[in-house]
Amino acid sequence: MATLFKDVLIIDGSREKAERVHLLVSKGRIESIIDVSQTPPTADKIVYGHGRMAVIPGFVNAHTHAAMTLLRGLGEETALMEWLQTQIWPVEDKLTPEYIYWGTLSAMLEMLETGTTCFADMYFEMDRVAEAVLGAGMRAGLCRGITAGEPGKIERSIANNLELAEKYHGREGLITVQMGPHAPYTVPIEYMKQISEAAKSHGLGVHFHFLETKGERDNLGMTAEEYLNESGLLSVPYLTLAHAVWLDPAISLPDNVTLVHNPCSNLKLGSGVMPLVSWLERDVSVALGTDGASSNNRLDIWGEMRYAALLHKGVNMNPVCVSALDVLRMATYEGAKAFGFAQKGMIHEGWVADLVLVDLDKPHYIGVNDENLAVYIVYAGSSADVAGTMINGRWVYKNGEYPTLDREEIIAKAREVREAITR
Ligand code: NI
Repeated sequence: MATLFKDVLIIDGSREKAERVHLLVSKGRIESIIDVSQTPPTADKIVYGHGRMAVIPGFVNAHTHAAMTLLRGLGEETALMEWLQTQIWPVEDKLTPEYIYWGTLSAMLEMLETGTTCFADMYFEMDRVAEAVLGAGMRAGLCRGITAGEPGKIERSIANNLELAEKYHGREGLITVQMGPHAPYTVPIEYMKQISEAAKSHGLGVHFHFLETKGERDNLGMTAEEYLNESGLLSVPYLTLAHAVWLDPAISLPDNVTLVHNPCSNLKLGSGVMPLVSWLERDVSVALGTDGASSNNRLDIWGEMRYAALLHKGVNMNPVCVSALDVLRMATYEGAKAFGFAQKGMIHEGWVADLVLVDLDKPHYIGVNDENLAVYIVYAGSSADVAGTMINGRWVYKNGEYPTLDREEIIAKAREVREAITR
């Protein structure tokens, strides 16, 4: 089935300015983009833009823990370690595979409604997460969060992560699997070496929390460069470092590394501010993420874009150091690339049709044009402007409806689970 977006504005991280076009989607891909002055092609379904709708690439939430929607609001406004140890980990012990399934679906409702088409998830019981992802027709990079604990736990987690890869890596083009060591302070370096070796031999990426807090950096016991080299992480096929708030940009990072900036979570937990401008100046790939719903507390990439665009201007006292287009590219293409999804995150002919339809027929878009669309989206826009979310050319959210999910059932189940784990 083909869908024609007739007379819409398109923008992505590769364009200097927006274009007013007819955009045809067929067989899950962007088949053609033609200038609005030309006769539009025919299609089974037509979305009329009248020049007042925009089509942008689907957002990629490059670091989250989806099922933590179930833990939202617990132990608010405490320090990271205290929060994890007294509020989060004890409740997480009560989570069953079934609970995680519903918590993940609940997160997916939020993400689809706000235009996220792909998310990178680090958690556990990931088979159920994969099931939720495939059922919804969403895209995800999945890893099993690996932590040390009672004897044998870490070995089991590594084996479990590899089983996940065996079963789901590449599945329906929707899922990639990474190895998911949690952080330097929860995984001893001997195991990090094993995990890096396993990633290399299975051709998998690694998704890792790295230097989120100053204390973590001070307790690393070596420099970040030594750690990344000694752990073998720099030689895995691709490496995603979530947070990297305290990673010194003087380090030289190879091209297979993407950093994930989580501005809201870092601010909320008082972790600090990543030196984003330095990384962009060095052409290091940086994607955007929300982190879990219990440290953000939203799963809305629009918020991360706005914060990323504003925060660094203030910190650097420089209004031109991060552009709206920079953050749009971080929120889309960079995340897709980081998790091994090719031809996603930009609007080009032949690329995959993971798209967001944005309603510009609103007062806060008066004055929008081809020169300033990205600026309007990042500074004036919000997720309330999302009219539809499409993955592989198929609507997964449109005008308040979820064609692939049962919203009422998911909310009811997630509410039951929340009651059960906090009783
Ligand atoms: Ni995290």
